[in-house]
Amino acid sequence: MSKPAKNEARRDELIELIRYHDNLYYNADTPEITDREYDKLYAELKKIEEDQPSLVREDSPTQRVPGQPLDKFEKQTHTLPMLSLQNSFDAEDLMAFDGRVKKGLGSEDVVEYYCEPKLDGLAMELIYRNGRLSGALTRGDGYEGELVTENVKTIRTLPLALPEKWQHLELFEIRGEVLMLKKDFGALNDLQQDAGQKTFANPRNAAAGSIRQLDPAIAAGRPLRMFCYAPGSTPNLSVETQSEFISIAREMGLPALACLSFADFKKAAEAFLKSKSKTKKPFTNLSAICSGIEEAISYYELIQRLRHDLPFEIDGVVMKVNSYAAQEELGFVSRCPRWAMAGKFEPEKATTQVEDIIVQVGRTGALTPVAIMKPVQVGGVTVSNATLHNQDEIDRKDVRIGDTVWVQRAGDVIPEIIEVDKSKRPKSAKPFLLPENCPVCGEPAEKVEGEVVTRCTNPTCPAVVREGLKHFVSKRAMNVDKLGDKLIEQMVDADLIETFSDLYKLTQKDILTLERQGKKSSENIIASIEASKKSTLPKFIYSLGIRFVGEQTARILASEFGSVESLQEANLDQLTEINDIGPKVAESIVKAFSKPKFRKEINKLLNSGIEFETTEVKQNSQISGKTIVVTGTLPMGRNEIKDYITSLGAKAGSSVSKKTDYLLAGDSAGSKLDKAQELGVEILNWEQFLELVK
Ligand code: IVH
Repeated sequence: MSKPAKNEARRDELIELIRYHDNLYYNADTPEITDREYDKLYAELKKIEEDQPSLVREDSPTQRVPGQPLDKFEKQTHTLPMLSLQNSFDAEDLMAFDGRVKKGLGSEDVVEYYCEPKLDGLAMELIYRNGRLSGALTRGDGYEGELVTENVKTIRTLPLALPEKWQHLELFEIRGEVLMLKKDFGALNDLQQDAGQKTFANPRNAAAGSIRQLDPAIAAGRPLRMFCYAPGSTPNLSVETQSEFISIAREMGLPALACLSFADFKKAAEAFLKSKSKTKKPFTNLSAICSGIEEAISYYELIQRLRHDLPFEIDGVVMKVNSYAAQEELGFVSRCPRWAMAGKFEPEKATTQVEDIIVQVGRTGALTPVAIMKPVQVGGVTVSNATLHNQDEIDRKDVRIGDTVWVQRAGDVIPEIIEVDKSKRPKSAKPFLLPENCPVCGEPAEKVEGEVVTRCTNPTCPAVVREGLKHFVSKRAMNVDKLGDKLIEQMVDADLIETFSDLYKLTQKDILTLERQGKKSSENIIASIEASKKSTLPKFIYSLGIRFVGEQTARILASEFGSVESLQEANLDQLTEINDIGPKVAESIVKAFSKPKFRKEINKLLNSGIEFETTEVKQNSQISGKTIVVTGTLPMGRNEIKDYITSLGAKAGSSVSKKTDYLLAGDSAGSKLDKAQELGVEILNWEQFLELVK
């Protein structure tokens, strides 16, 4: 053999070997060679490619990490939208689901369900063109995602190319979840800690943060995995069932959880649960074909018991009608398939001890008690503090320092103390009372009759000033993106700023006096303060931090008054006349503007060059002049939708009344939907809404 031909053969052999060892290491957890031996194979391949660049195969493992970081992620529309799942929380809900499926199919026959764990990571779509991995797209809003191809290519378990047999497929899209195994997450956090880098709260956040790295070299160092569970667009592939699809995916070398018959799954799961051995091999045949909803419910219960022993975090199971023909017949309702259901698990609880209760002071002067607890794992996350909200809450739960408590965390929600175990209360534990004076400035705190919150009434309290400034610069307010919470604290502590308008007087020299600020960073900060001057009236009103004036109210005030000047002059009557503005809100607005200091501050802000972009309002759109209320979960953020509605000349209402023209209702819409039905208000789903505003 000639030397080039020999090199080529060796290259193919090395690629084959590396793939073989990758599979043993990542999928079977049974490596046959040491890391060093593996690295040698990799280095040999790299050498061949460097000597003869024409030999670099597109699917070579060396091609997983490109050289250059990206500036930003490009967006791309999904060929087929990536939708959501309906949620169930108990067997009764699941029975009802089965009933709807049967009704939809017009048959009482037993339905076959493909059941699998609901993986707690982030959804991803892989796009193979002619057998090559050509794109990886995040879910985004379901319709448009971000291309994170370079980062996803670093996931060693994903084939860069499909086997020969499948390379004729012009387009093959497959979806799944990107996640981090629990063990890899722990190791990553240890590494991050040692390197003085930030640690992640849970595997999901670590996976999401890694996928969003603009530098693929960083992503490559993160132990990401992906498990596939659904087809995207697969125009040239004929498949009849979900189980067939998954077995084809596995044949293609794509990682997907193996599937058993329910009987075999049950046997294996029960044996696994019985074995007491600490070193038991992870249980990974986690999907099952269930005949009828009863089996599917047993599957759900078994997975719930296996949950803590699984290598990754899950938050439930997913049941899918196995037959694709039946799926098609059932179709979709709003954003969810009628043929699938998520069986969610109850949030996780843990017990720990309250070591202290501290009091924080917020933007509005509110004194918030926070329980500091012995760190405890709840649903894979270490929890060490929980808000106790206010004195009433403390009284109601009767939480005391030294108490043993039950903590709960539901999804991403902030941990909460749900109950005190009074049998474990130390004799010395006394009821906790909020202080009579602000813990930050020492001025008297007061509790208004009929309100639950105790407040520091000193408008110049350093805590109030600091929190107000944080709000002012935040993303949805003035959006000074280079000023984070830490910097604001530093600036306030250094007496550089006290009021909002002080920000606009800052010079680069001022910023250079702060610790860790250099030429470049101070320039960036000044530039971002400057850029924030281009704002909008609603954002400006919101940023002032007037009590009860959230984004929605700010939007309404802006459209009613048109300028800060006329808003300042508004009296109680004018304000309460506006639909959606109640007496409490009106009073708070009038009170804020009655303070000469506040008015002076606003003048200073306006004189510092803040300008309001007038969003062009289309007067002749289909919905101009109409009032639309938005509720439920929708493919776009609630605020974005409201901004969009306002930009079309309509009003975004906050509650349903006779004056409401439409209710745009997403998933899990609640009382607003009932109210609209009661009043005969026209109800739109997302598709109908898009149709209307088209
Ligand atoms: S199927 C039409 N299967 O759940 C819905 N989704 O609530 C197709 N998820 O965004 C999704 N595990 O990120 C499916 N085994 C599984 C899943 C799963 C987790 C996530 C997915 C999706 C969300 C929907």
